[in-house]
Amino acid sequence: MLVIQDGRIVAIGPTNEVEGTLPPGTIVTHYERELILPGFIDTHIHFPQTQVIASYGTQLLDWLTRYTFVEEQKYYDPAHCTRQAAFFLDELLRNGTTTAVAYGSVHPQSVDAFFTESEERGTCMIAGKVMMNRNAPLGLTDTVETSYADSKTLIERWHKRGRQRYAVTPRFAITSTQAQLEAAGALLREFPDVYMQTHLSENLDEIAFVQSLFPDSKNYTDVYDRVGLLGPRSLFGHCIHLNEEELQRMADTSSVAVFCPTSNLFIGSGLFDMASTEKSKRPVRVGLGTDVGGGTSYSMLQTAAEAYKVLQLKGQNLPPATAFYMMTRGNADLLSMGGEIGSLECGCFADFVVLDSKATPAMLHRMETIGDMIEEELFVLMTLGDDRAVRATYVQGRKLHDRNLA
Ligand code: GUN
Ligand code: FE
Repeated sequence: MLVIQDGRIVAIGPTNEVEGTLPPGTIVTHYERELILPGFIDTHIHFPQTQVIASYGTQLLDWLTRYTFVEEQKYYDPAHCTRQAAFFLDELLRNGTTTAVAYGSVHPQSVDAFFTESEERGTCMIAGKVMMNRNAPLGLTDTVETSYADSKTLIERWHKRGRQRYAVTPRFAITSTQAQLEAAGALLREFPDVYMQTHLSENLDEIAFVQSLFPDSKNYTDVYDRVGLLGPRSLFGHCIHLNEEELQRMADTSSVAVFCPTSNLFIGSGLFDMASTEKSKRPVRVGLGTDVGGGTSYSMLQTAAEAYKVLQLKGQNLPPATAFYMMTRGNADLLSMGGEIGSLECGCFADFVVLDSKATPAMLHRMETIGDMIEEELFVLMTLGDDRAVRATYVQGRKLHDRNLA
């Protein structure tokens, strides 16, 4: 039994021990056959790509030009931003995700809309306006000065306002000049407790292009390293093709590599090598993310299923307990938010998901052979489950999604 007061968990334990301690009049909700887990945390997703997801036939650089940069230009319009932000957050909740680290578009109004909608729902979200000043359509470019000034204004407006947090967001090395990357570094020095997110080493053509744009850099990671973007609050999407030296720098700086399996498969970027992150004495910290709309599912369950398959192809494995740890406490720790989210402990926010392992006929049928083997049940959930397995999602103890009412 989980006891919630003022949006936080105040007790947890066997019902027969906890029930007697409840004050009279306490409202009790029973979930008979479901599992209650911490709400999922998605450490890499693009809020302006809800209408890019499922775009056919391209790899990264063409995909950006042909689909993504077209859709993202629509976010100059605040009304569009609001409608899309509302859809995006509700869709996350329908999938059991209660915290995400999200890219906005280049337009500061996209981030304003996103945080406004998040604040209304009481969710804990991390986001930032994308900084990009070259190799993109005019409608999607800022300048060194405006990207710095707009990011700073957004930090002052939103960072640590309630549950919202800011991430300085240079999109990736191809769309920023050296001077803009330096401006991102300056923001991190000025505001040491904001996050940083960008993309790193996702696609071979991308890596070659970066090398041509930054001929003096030792490697792709070094482009970011030289301007001070590595560190324990820095999240690097993909990291598929890093060499030993780059992995070592990631480890030495406690930077985070975010594994985005559905995206890596869908855009044909490559297979993440988990074992290579564990080689050095200090392993590289690894998060799990959907990367919608390069990714193909909002569901962290489906994301875990694809992570398992990617690692199978590398001769590596992903036990279900590890996968569920990554989507909850693991991702929370990467954000320095352990003890606040990602766990059902006293003091944590009551952000949780109620999962139904028998949500579909195939799951119900498979579950007949499992009995009370929790690891096997978790594996069925991640392999066969998706939004249909999310019975309900709670944020600060408030039910924001109920599958049976939707
Ligand atoms: N690299 C730069 N921008 C993007 C993006 O929007 N999605 C992905 N997957 N990679 C990127
Ligand atoms: Fe991405």
